[in-house]
Amino acid sequence: MSSGGPRLENSELNRLVAPEIKNDAFYDLIRDLAATEILETVLEIGSSAGEGSTEAFVVGLSKNRGSPQLFCIEISRPRFQKLQETYKDYPFVHCYNLSTISIAQFPRPEEVIKFYNEVPSALRQFPLPTVLGWLCQDIEYIRQTGVEVGAIEKIKADHGIETFDMVLIDGSEFAGSAEYSLVKGANFILLDDTNTFKCYKVREDLLDDPMYDLIADGPRLRNGFSVFKRRARPKGLFRKARERVVRSLHHAMRRAPC
Ligand SMILES: C[S@@+](CC[C@H](N)C(=O)[O-])C[C@H]1O[C@@H](n2cnc3c(N)ncnc32)[C@H](O)[C@@H]1O
Repeated sequence: MSSGGPRLENSELNRLVAPEIKNDAFYDLIRDLAATEILETVLEIGSSAGEGSTEAFVVGLSKNRGSPQLFCIEISRPRFQKLQETYKDYPFVHCYNLSTISIAQFPRPEEVIKFYNEVPSALRQFPLPTVLGWLCQDIEYIRQTGVEVGAIEKIKADHGIETFDMVLIDGSEFAGSAEYSLVKGANFILLDDTNTFKCYKVREDLLDDPMYDLIADGPRLRNGFSVFKRRARPKGLFRKARERVVRSLHHAMRRAPC
């Protein structure tokens, strides 16, 4: 992206916006999982000003018997300030004003254009130049503010975390896949915008992953959400073992004298 992109004062990232995950089934699910699952560390990528998914996490985690910690990541300065102010009296909430990914980790425009043309996703509600404008805006915000990058790596290092227990991916429209590669292995992976570029591919990858089960799916709620839970052992393990036993029994019966 050239530095002739949108000026910082005109950037949508420089403004507060209404919460997105609010008064809906995904909000309720986040709150209930946060209250009842065995959790120590929870990561929220894309907290905005804290009135949506953050609120659902905080309400739920406040009831959790395991005293879990919530780590919130928000790149936008004004949204982060409101987030931090709102949760200043909640010692288990830790807010980071950083970017999850660097400029180099954003997809190339060609990759976004290919997705737009090949996948009939909700992104097509918007003209392609608008979508590419969002990509430009996200990159320019990092360039012009000089905000530090590497939020997930920093939180892991600061708190000695190898794998989070629960993660929500709801940050930049263009960062979902890169963020997923940094949180893979979490017990619960919650995705918003599964029907746009943000989490479409992550959802496909998790559906194919023998270590994860889809436990909730809302393709028609806004731009879609999904929740995956990690298994103790890969899917199909017992089926394959059973097939092996049946094959060797057949083999033994063919060789047995009658
Ligand atoms: C879809 S909104 C999150 C909505 C929120 N979860 C809710 O329920 O209201 C995405 C948020 O991710 C933030 N964001 C965008 N790019 C980011 C980045 N590179 N790192 C961290 N946060 C980012 C945006 O500023 C925005 O507030």
